[in-house]
Amino acid sequence: MDDEPVILQVLKAVFEGEPYRLTSVANGRDALAVIAAGTVDLIITDKNLPDVGGIEILRAAKAKEPLIEVIILTGYGSLDTALTALELDAFDYVLKPLNNVFDIRNKVRKADQKQQMALENRRLILELSRKNGELEAALEEARGLQAELIQSEKLAGIGTLAAGIAHEISSPLFGILGLAEAITDEQDLPLAQGYARDVVEYCRTIRDIVVDLSSYSRSATHEYLTSVELAKVIGDALKLVERSAPVEHVTFRTEIEPGLYLNARTNEIQQIFVNLIKNAAEAVNDAHLSGGGSVVVKAGRTDGAIWARVEDNGPGIPEDRVRLIFDPFYTTKPAGKGTGLGLNIVYRIMTKYRGQVQVQSKPGEGTQFSLRFPVDSRQ
Ligand SMILES: Nc1ncnc2c1ncn2[C@@H]1O[C@H](COP(=O)(O)OP(=O)(O)OP(=O)(O)O)[C@@H](O)[C@H]1O
Ligand SMILES: [Mg+2]
Repeated sequence: MDDEPVILQVLKAVFEGEPYRLTSVANGRDALAVIAAGTVDLIITDKNLPDVGGIEILRAAKAKEPLIEVIILTGYGSLDTALTALELDAFDYVLKPLNNVFDIRNKVRKADQKQQMALENRRLILELSRKNGELEAALEEARGLQAELIQSEKLAGIGTLAAGIAHEISSPLFGILGLAEAITDEQDLPLAQGYARDVVEYCRTIRDIVVDLSSYSRSATHEYLTSVELAKVIGDALKLVERSAPVEHVTFRTEIEPGLYLNARTNEIQQIFVNLIKNAAEAVNDAHLSGGGSVVVKAGRTDGAIWARVEDNGPGIPEDRVRLIFDPFYTTKPAGKGTGLGLNIVYRIMTKYRGQVQVQSKPGEGTQFSLRFPVDSRQ
């Protein structure tokens, strides 16, 4: 861009053979039109066109596209303008008259290189922000998945809880059913009254489970703890199992030291023994169809702790399965018969009382479940 035709001619000659497309204009209006058209990468402009100043050209070019490079042609007298131009991000300036045409060609080549690099940078930044966008989308998706997982985990938890409640309630419920049926046919009034009292007892158990559930969040506190007599709880558990499980081939026996008390919730301790005795009875009953099956419950005291044991002479548990039996839903019983929650409940209750439950089993000989309640749960 220059109003002196001879300068335009010289420049054309300088860039002959270079891989550039040249456009020459002789006034500011045309210069601004070329910039506005957006087809220009580099501008060599006179400091002053007849109608527009070089600085204005520079500003218009940078506003249009910051990567456009501008070289200002200026006379010695206008070095100030040239420096202002550099401050405004002009690439360079060339002094008039054009004595060294190679100088201007080198400057153009360098400007070209700078521009290529800037373009490459811009491409990389775009690429980077696109990748960034992809990453953010992936992160967003992962967050969504995580939320879904947490949700389904919660649902699974509710499922486990519901199954656990069904499990806890089903034993006393079957007891009630059996007793109610017996009462219907019973002529002997005192006997029927005895059954009725047991029904009341079972109903209380169910009520306690429900109360327990509604105070679920408070379950860790001691507010419902009472002095639980082990012999009584075990006796009740045995009665419950005898009525609710198939036990026709099983003999039950207890060896319980008198005066054993736990500071606990009756309902939970009973739950432990119902599950262990029921498991033992179920295991023994199937293995001793012609008699001889036995389940023995023992309890006593040792170094201030209270221990209990449920022993059976059933089929035992294969060695590689022992570590699975406390897992929720682990069962070897047919669908509809076992939920696989019994031992998990035992484990959870024992943990709650800081107690321990251990199993010893010899396949073909029998199984022993040992419980130990620490001294501070004693009264
Ligand atoms: N005394 C035992 N002898 C042999 N196997 C046992 C004994 N106790 C537990 N098991 C094994 O451990 C598994 C898990 O027992 P758990 O009480 O947790 O569930 P379940 O008895 O199968 O079902 P549920 O208790 O819900 O009726 C049983 O299916 C059984 O294979
Ligand atoms: Mg069981």
